Amino acid sequence: MKIMITGAEGFAASRIMEAWKDRHELWGVSRRQMDITDRDETRRVICEYSPEIVIHCGAISDLAVCDNEPERSGKINVDGAENVAAACRESGSRMVFFSSDQVYFGNDAAGPRREDEVLSPKRLYGKQKLEAEKRCLEILPDGVILRMSWMFDYKKNRPEEHDTLVTSVRQALKEGKQMQYPVYDFRSITYIGEMIRHLEKALLLPGGIYNFGSPNECSTYEVVKELLRLQGTDMDLLAPNREAFADKPRDLRLSQDRLLSFGIRFENTQDGLKECLVQEEKRRVREGEG
Ligand SMILES: NC(=O)c1ccc[n+]([C@@H]2O[C@H](COP(=O)([O-])OP(=O)(O)OC[C@H]3O[C@@H](n4cnc5c(N)ncnc54)[C@H](OP(=O)(O)O)[C@@H]3O)[C@@H](O)[C@H]2O)c1
Repeated sequence: MKIMITGAEGFAASRIMEAWKDRHELWGVSRRQMDITDRDETRRVICEYSPEIVIHCGAISDLAVCDNEPERSGKINVDGAENVAAACRESGSRMVFFSSDQVYFGNDAAGPRREDEVLSPKRLYGKQKLEAEKRCLEILPDGVILRMSWMFDYKKNRPEEHDTLVTSVRQALKEGKQMQYPVYDFRSITYIGEMIRHLEKALLLPGGIYNFGSPNECSTYEVVKELLRLQGTDMDLLAPNREAFADKPRDLRLSQDRLLSFGIRFENTQDGLKECLVQEEKRRVREGEG
């Protein structure tokens, strides 16, 4: 397939490019090549390339940056997504939009969260993602919205790339720093390699909104504990955080029902951690041999 991916230098897009380089005709566009806040430029670049599919990963994904820079982040996360959708409509491309489990933060009942819940996101980033979802689907009812959870990998592709749960934990271990992770926080923490494995099938889903991450029974604290156990590192530096979300446990775990009905089955978070470590070992062997 002829596929364009926005936010090409970012965490998710750079790994999709790496994984699919021999499988599809791909073009990863960075902000320098197409600033999604520039409606005309976005239209021109997408219409000229005329891909079958645009995977829209470009965003400000840091929640604190969104809070601190509401106007700039709104232009990118909401208006930018709308610009991509409008350009896709003009070029006849299908849009696959990366949304977030943060749209569910604010729903207090126990999860897992379902795609059809009434939403009222607490944080600005979640509000922006929800608004972007609505605008994209208004323009492109056949668009596919994937609500991603917190994704991890064993490495950073570039020093300036944001950390993930695994790289943060390892950095803390390296520095001998105490770590605290919440016991009242539940998320569909997902190995990026697994997300990418299912993404190809997701490109062909009927238009609509889909949760897209691993099932998980464990709190974030328990997930980190399991990572340390699997790595064989000792637990001395890890402590439970019993204050965060103590009033109202946060449950952003993603119901799998809708995806399962289309034959997409994610492994659970613990299996994702195992796979991540296996892939890391394979890479080490490959690089050692090379
Ligand atoms: N990573 C996760 O765990 C996670 C979880 C849930 C949802 N998501 C969503 O998944 C998508 C990808 O996430 P990610 O972690 O890969 O994000 P990321 O690493 O922050 O990458 C986002 C990319 O978007 C680009 N970008 C920013 N402003 C732009 C603009 N005006 N025009 C074009 N591109 C622009 C950035 O380029 P510059 O660096 O040049 O600014 C960056 O390369 C995002 O929509 C994010 O909200 C991610």
